[in-house]
Amino acid sequence: MEFMRFLLVILVLLLLNVLLVCASSSSSSSSSNITKVGAIFSFGDSIFDAGTNGFIKNCTTQADFPPYGSSFFHHPTGRFTNGRTLPDFFSEFIGIDMQKPYLEAQAAVMNGSMKDYPSNGVNFASAGSGLLPSTDKENGVISIQEQLQQFQDLVNQSQITKNLINNSLFLLESGSNDIFNYFIPTHDPKPDPQHYVESMLAEAEKFLTQIYNIGGRRIAVLSLGPLGCVPARAMLVGVGAPIGTCYGKMNKMVKQYNVGLENLIHNVSNKYNGLIGVYGELYQIVQHYRTFPKRFGFSDVSNACCGDGVLGGMLQCGKEGFKICKNPNQFLFWDYFHPSEHTNHLLSNALWLGGKLQIRPFNLKTLANFH
Ligand SMILES: *[C@@H]1O[C@H](CO)[C@@H](O)[C@H](O)[C@H]1NC(C)=O
Ligand SMILES: *[C@@H]1O[C@H](CO)[C@@H](O)[C@H](O)[C@H]1NC(C)=O
Ligand SMILES: *[C@@H]1O[C@H](CO)[C@@H](O)[C@H](O)[C@H]1NC(C)=O
Ligand SMILES: *[C@@H]1O[C@H](CO)[C@@H](O)[C@H](O)[C@H]1NC(C)=O
Ligand SMILES: *[C@@H]1O[C@H](CO)[C@@H](O)[C@H](O)[C@H]1NC(C)=O
Ligand SMILES: *[C@@H]1O[C@H](CO)[C@@H](O)[C@H](O)[C@H]1NC(C)=O
Repeated sequence: MEFMRFLLVILVLLLLNVLLVCASSSSSSSSSNITKVGAIFSFGDSIFDAGTNGFIKNCTTQADFPPYGSSFFHHPTGRFTNGRTLPDFFSEFIGIDMQKPYLEAQAAVMNGSMKDYPSNGVNFASAGSGLLPSTDKENGVISIQEQLQQFQDLVNQSQITKNLINNSLFLLESGSNDIFNYFIPTHDPKPDPQHYVESMLAEAEKFLTQIYNIGGRRIAVLSLGPLGCVPARAMLVGVGAPIGTCYGKMNKMVKQYNVGLENLIHNVSNKYNGLIGVYGELYQIVQHYRTFPKRFGFSDVSNACCGDGVLGGMLQCGKEGFKICKNPNQFLFWDYFHPSEHTNHLLSNALWLGGKLQIRPFNLKTLANFH
């Protein structure tokens, strides 16, 4: 009996020792996680937008009103979620400040309140935009081509050094708005899905080529998530979107795009000397959360936390008549289109530290530390 107790004590002590060693080695590695990358330049849509659209006077795609931002910033910042976005979390992991929207930095430099453009990068993303220049143009959003032009202008005016560009992380996420709009009935005839997706990929290829030509070397491109599962599909019931399940036709098109996108990244990485491109598999990551919600802290992976109508997807959060849930971070979706901050946190961790099922050929932490 005594002997057993003795053994138990020894075991516990050994275990404690192991735990302590683990804890100290992980804390020492996290205090030395200083990476090679000093800046992030983000391009794309509302998944990345840090408040760009608030600086466009006549733009109708906005999130600059409560309760956007309420869980983290405690005021609206123009981000389309209740807290931080993916570039915000990546900045934390790298150990740099979050990036300002380009238009905000530009206004500050022009009125003299800021001397130079920030050295931690800039966020060009504009909610509502797509890869196709025409997507949501009537809403006054900034297309990916115009975002690239803004970046090119900064470089041409020597506001950003070549050295900084060489050591920056470039992020691209775009295409959801192109595909969602494809399913909105219009009078104009539409190309078939295959051709539509090909024209999106052609724009993505132009974009990557130009980033490379300007000097960008570390580029992470994210796949689209399961767009057919967003609560906003409730607005497309008239054209055949189901409510009880995801919209299969839309997800099929998303998957076509994603497959092409991964090939494209593979191709350009081989073609351009020195370019390191990675592909983040958001689609599969989100599907995993939908399959095992409890494991990831979700109580609801179908409805919008904030909005109204079927699935909470018929009204934008914050607009007259909206309702809000008690625990936004137990919801996969914050509003009719967008992930909650909790979802963004999980996704950013998966992309930063994940294995090949999440991000290929290696994760963002590796990309950021690449010599
Ligand atoms: C190190 O990374 C962690 C998250 O992985 C982050 O919270 C922390 O701020 C980083 N520290 C430094 C010094 O970069
Ligand atoms: C300058 O512009 C920035 C960004 O729009 C703004 O926050 C700031 O209040 C402005 N400052 C002055 C002195 O106008
Ligand atoms: C918004 O304003 C800009 C600049 O004044 C103008 O070029 C653009 O056509 C306007 N867009 C819309 C949708 O009204
Ligand atoms: C920027 O510089 C590049 C290379 O010098 C040139 O090709 C391009 O036309 C310039 N773009 C702008 C917007 O001035
Ligand atoms: C970019 O950085 C890499 C090392 O990280 C270096 O080999 C290369 O010469 C740099 N290129 C420029 C244009 O500074
Ligand atoms: C990638 O390259 C392969 C082989 O050259 C080609 O068949 C394929 O169409 C390319 N895909 C994209 C998206 O560029």
